Order: sequence, then structure tokens, then C-alpha cells
Amino acid sequence: MRAVTWQGKRDVRVETVPDPTIEHPTDAIIKVTSTAICGSDLHLYEVLGPYMTAGDVLGHEPMGIVEEVGSAVTNIGVGDRVVIPFNIACGSCWMCDHDLMSQCETTQVHEHGTGAALLGFSKLYGQVAGGQAEYLRVPQAQFGPIPVPDGPVDERFLFLSDVLPTAWQGVEYAAIPDDGIVAVFGLGPIGQMSSRIARHRGARVIAIDNVPERLELARRHGIETIDERDVEHVGEALRDLTGGRGPDSAIDAVGMEAHGSPVAAAAQAATGLLPDGVARKMMEKVGVDRLSALLSCIDAVRRGGTVSILGVYGGMTDPLPMMQMFDKQVSLRMGQANVKRWIDDLMPLVTDDADPLGVEDLASHRLPLDDAPWAYEAFQKKKDGAIKMVLQP
Ligand SMILES: NC(=O)c1ccc[n+]([C@@H]2O[C@H](COP(=O)([O-])OP(=O)(O)OC[C@H]3O[C@@H](n4cnc5c(N)ncnc54)[C@H](O)[C@@H]3O)[C@@H](O)[C@H]2O)c1
Ligand SMILES: [Zn+2]
Ligand SMILES: [Zn+2]
Repeated sequence: MRAVTWQGKRDVRVETVPDPTIEHPTDAIIKVTSTAICGSDLHLYEVLGPYMTAGDVLGHEPMGIVEEVGSAVTNIGVGDRVVIPFNIACGSCWMCDHDLMSQCETTQVHEHGTGAALLGFSKLYGQVAGGQAEYLRVPQAQFGPIPVPDGPVDERFLFLSDVLPTAWQGVEYAAIPDDGIVAVFGLGPIGQMSSRIARHRGARVIAIDNVPERLELARRHGIETIDERDVEHVGEALRDLTGGRGPDSAIDAVGMEAHGSPVAAAAQAATGLLPDGVARKMMEKVGVDRLSALLSCIDAVRRGGTVSILGVYGGMTDPLPMMQMFDKQVSLRMGQANVKRWIDDLMPLVTDDADPLGVEDLASHRLPLDDAPWAYEAFQKKKDGAIKMVLQP
């Protein structure tokens, strides 16, 4: 089959690889019909290379049609239309029972001390072959796959794999009070959907980015925006818009590659030049994250407010302003989305033909699998109006 493979920093190629087969009774094979590229894939493309091996199949946002199931898989059958969560969870361990599927004790990656294995996401998360491919082996298929109805286009459901549950969890964790105000930093797909979900749930939303078409997309969905290029200081601008106090909550939908962090950017570039083993040690021992978005969240949120971190961070000793965080009495929540925890909340919204979250107005590009190298580059460089890239194998 054809699959998108990681080959090196900023180098992905579509190659012919062996078709996946059932390896465990709990596996299923799906024929992929749509599969998206995520901001998390960009971290693999740019800074997490030391954890990748040339030839790794990328992708963790797939959906498709069930081709084959293992003997222990009874919840889905051949021909079913399913969306696959990005985290691989068993559904029956202590963590899964407590709705913490991203910490599943059956699939945790002990070698790296990390949580649940993820599709297509480096050695840190189990080096499982991903879903930007014609076919995908789905581990733990007795629990993971989300059946969806036939009829509507793929994009109505595709974002249940990651973007929607991630954004939903980000809004939950932001603990926005009734009639409260939330600032959303970053208007990539995750920030777009966090903004729409918070607004749908009654909050006033002010979103921040500096990419014109992303700001425009947010405004089209009724979101107030701040173009970073227009203000000297984002925190001050947010206080000006909120009676001087600041928003009740802030969501970081940016992560480790934020712009405006020149020192950490240099550290990231430097680790990219080191041999993998040395680079991994450096990433594990020193602060290599670009923290500007997180620092803005901490600065902007009102005293006693909550910062909800969706953006992925990877440094082990990032310097944070502990005095400011303690003095302001800031609550912090973060983590990978527990995808299946939020599906019951989201399903009524994505099956509603009125499309209340506008899921059919998120993808900027729909492309054949073979165009993946261009799609990664355009998405990373934000060229050609790239906001969300959907590949159709
Ligand atoms: N927690 C989870 O389970 C989970 C799931 C999916 C994605 N993520 C993470 O969420 C983050 C966003 O993903 P995405 O797909 O939307 O990526 P993206 O790269 O398309 O979006 C990031 C956006 O942030 C903007 N930005 C950069 N620096 C900024 C700053 N200082 N202030 C405000 N905006 C800034 C960029 O212009 C861009 O529009 C990534 O870190 C990704 O890894 C986390
Ligand atoms: Zn993703
Ligand atoms: Zn589990």
C-alpha cells in the first residue's frame, strides 16, 4: 500500500510499504477514506526527529471502512464506517475506567515513561504505524473505533479522531465560569475548534494569532480576535477588552513551537544538529520549548483564573514564572485528550445537519495521499491559506 513516511527533518515521502495485517485478536484493519495532518505532526516534522526512525508511517487522525477484524473484536464489523481515536486505549484498565484514556495502563510506553501509545507518533508513544496510508492496523479495536452513520461527508466526523475531543477537553479544563470570558491563543485547527466550542457553550471568546486567514476564519464563526501584529502587548490588549481584569480562562492551543521565543528556537535548532541519542538527552535535560504562548496565557489570565494547555510541550526543565503563577493563584490543567471521554458530548453536534460547530468549514485543503509532502510543507509554512489539510487516499 501507499503510506506517508517520515524520512528526516522536514522530509516526508509517500512510499510503498507492506499492507498491515491482524497481529492480535484485538486488532482491526480499516481502509482509510480520509486522514488529516495535525499540528502535532509538525512537531515530528521539525523538532522531534530524534525520536523518529526513517520509514515510520505518520498520521493519527484517520477514518474509514472496516476491512477485517480480529477474533476478539465484536463491537464493529466488516463494512462499518468508523473514526479512529489518536490515542490507543484498552477501555478496561483503571485509567480507562476513570476516563483517562490517554493514560491507558495497557498501552503506556514504559520504555520512555510516557502515557498511552498513540498512532503514528514516534518512539515516545510506542512507534505504532500511523493512519496517513491506504490501510491502517487499529490496535485495541475492541474499544477504540467510533462508529458513525453513513450519509454525510467524511469531514462531518473526521475530527472526532482528535481535533474535536481535544478542543472539548481544553474547554472543559479551562473551567470557564457561566457567562465567563476565555482567551484562546493560537488559531490553528485546535484553537479554531476550542473557540467555537467555548462560544457554543456560552462563553465570550477572544482568540489571538497573527495569520490573517486564520483570524478571518475565526471571525466568520463569531469569534472576537486580536491580531498580534496590531498590539504591542497581548496581555494588555486582553485586559483592555475585559475591564482591566483579564479573561477568566486562557487556552494555549499553540505548544512548543510558538513564535516569539528566539532563545528556545535556537536551542531547538541546535538539538536538530546533534546525533539522535545526544539530542534526546538534551531535550530531556534542558528547556527546549518555545514558551511565548504559555507565558502569555499566564500573564493574561485574571487572578484566580485557569490556564488550560492543549499545545504539546516536550522539554523537561522549562523555566516558568512560578512567583507570578503562585501570586496570581493560577490553576493549570493540561494533557493529551482522552478522546472517547468526550464522544457522547460531541456526537449529537456532529450528527446535527445544522452543523453547529461548523466542522465542514475547517479543512482548507483536500488532497490525494501522494500530495502529502507538499501538504506538510504548506501547513508548516502556512502558505496557500493552509489551515487544516485532509488527505484522501
Ligand atoms: N492535547 C492534545 O491532545 C493535542 C491534540 C492535538 C494537537 N495538540 C497540539 O495543539 C497545538 C495546536 O495544534 P494545531 O493543529 O492547531 O497546530 P497549528 O500549528 O496549525 O496551530 C498553531 C497556531 O498557533 C499560532 N501561534 C504560534 N505562536 C503563537 C503565539 N505566541 N501566540 C498566539 N498564537 C501563536 C500559529 O500561528 C498557528 O496558527 C499543537 O501543539 C499540537 O501538537 C494537542
Ligand atoms: Zn492530531
Ligand atoms: Zn486502558
